[in-house]
Amino acid sequence: MIVAFCCHYCAYAAADLAGTMRLQYPDSVRILRLPCTGKIEVNYLLAAFERGVDGVIVAGCLEGGCHYQEGNLRARRRVERAKQMLKEIGLEPERVEMFNLSSADGTRFAAIVAEMYERIAQLGPSPLRLNTAVCSEEAAKGDILRSRHSGEKRSPEGL
Ligand code: FES
Repeated sequence: MIVAFCCHYCAYAAADLAGTMRLQYPDSVRILRLPCTGKIEVNYLLAAFERGVDGVIVAGCLEGGCHYQEGNLRARRRVERAKQMLKEIGLEPERVEMFNLSSADGTRFAAIVAEMYERIAQLGPSPLRLNTAVCSEEAAKGDILRSRHSGEKRSPEGL
C-alpha cells in the first residue's frame, strides 16, 4: 500500500481532477489530505512505515506556489531527512518521495501514483510490513490462546 499525503490546494485538487477525468491509476494508494505539506513531520512519515505501508508520496504545490509561503520547501527538507533515516535503519530511501504539482495536474497526479507504484513493485513489499503482519498474527494467536485458557469467548472484532 502507498500513502499519499496531499496538500488541499494543489495535490488533493489534482487527485480530484484525475478522478473527474476518469484517469486510471493503481488503486493501492490511500490519499490523506493536509492543509499544506508544511504540516508533515518526519515522524509522520516514519510512523506510516511502522504501520506497514510500502511507500509514501508527499505531494504539494509548485515551488513558489505554496499557500502558506514555504510549507512545501519545509516538507521537501523533511522528506530528505526521512530518506536519510530510512537508509540508516536499512530501508530503501526511494520508498518516500516529494512531488510538486498544480491543481490542474490531474494527469500528472495519476502519473506520479503510477511511477511510485512501479518503483515500489520493483523494491518489493516493505520488510516492516512483513514484520507487522507476523506480529499481528502472533498477537492474534496469543489472544486466541489466552481466551481458550480463560474459557472466554471473543468475537473477531474483539481481537
Ligand atoms: Fe500546498 Fe503549502 S499549500 S504545499
